[in-house]
Amino acid sequence: MTIDSEQDVAGLYAAGAAVRATFERMKAATCAGITTAELDSIGATELDGRGARSAPQLYYDFPGATCISVNEEAAHGIPGPRRLQTGDLINIDVSAELDGYVADMGESFVVGAPNAAQKKICAAVRNAVSAALRSVRSGRSLNVIGLAVQRVADRGGYTIVENLGSHGVGNSIHEEPSYIPLHNPLERRRLSKGLVLTIEPFLTTGVRWVEQGPDGWTLSVPSGQLVVQHEHTLIVTDDGALVVTA
Ligand code: CO
Ligand code: CO
Repeated sequence: MTIDSEQDVAGLYAAGAAVRATFERMKAATCAGITTAELDSIGATELDGRGARSAPQLYYDFPGATCISVNEEAAHGIPGPRRLQTGDLINIDVSAELDGYVADMGESFVVGAPNAAQKKICAAVRNAVSAALRSVRSGRSLNVIGLAVQRVADRGGYTIVENLGSHGVGNSIHEEPSYIPLHNPLERRRLSKGLVLTIEPFLTTGVRWVEQGPDGWTLSVPSGQLVVQHEHTLIVTDDGALVVTA
């Protein structure tokens, strides 16, 4: 969506605060032995208490309130009986609608203490999103985002997943522009003032394409590879990005 009132800005911040609080509640509850279904239920309760509706359920009939992807799973992992273990690399992605506004965020982190490789790739994807956010200004090419992500990925020796897109958001969960956050010199679209979109790169240790599993939802990399995501929802302004999911 493109915002056209202060009410839109306030509505997006409120939706952003709901998904952030839900994520933080779930992250705080993450520990060895908990199942991903139990974590999801904590998230569902938090969303419900805030009057928010899970976007994956609302728009896609997803079998969970949030997406929880573990280890080689990149995205759209279905909450279930799997018990988390110390050392698991987990991604929680929370998106929800509140009073007509939709916000979307996600983060990867490790259950317990990360090993060196996990720590480095988690820092890289966070840095990539921070750099991309700093590059956002109305009037600039949409490619400034991909360029910023690509620089950080290249520096760390990581690969950007090419079949998981970042996207417009706000009125619905997946809107235009849909784009892959990597350097694309052919990109002609521009960041228009008031545009609401996500930045959500997936970095891997060498995998360009994630593959869908037999459950029809979960997208994964081959075992032995690392994959992480970091996602924020932002509003494009003349002065930079307003991050509503911070
Ligand atoms: Co998203
Ligand atoms: Co998301």
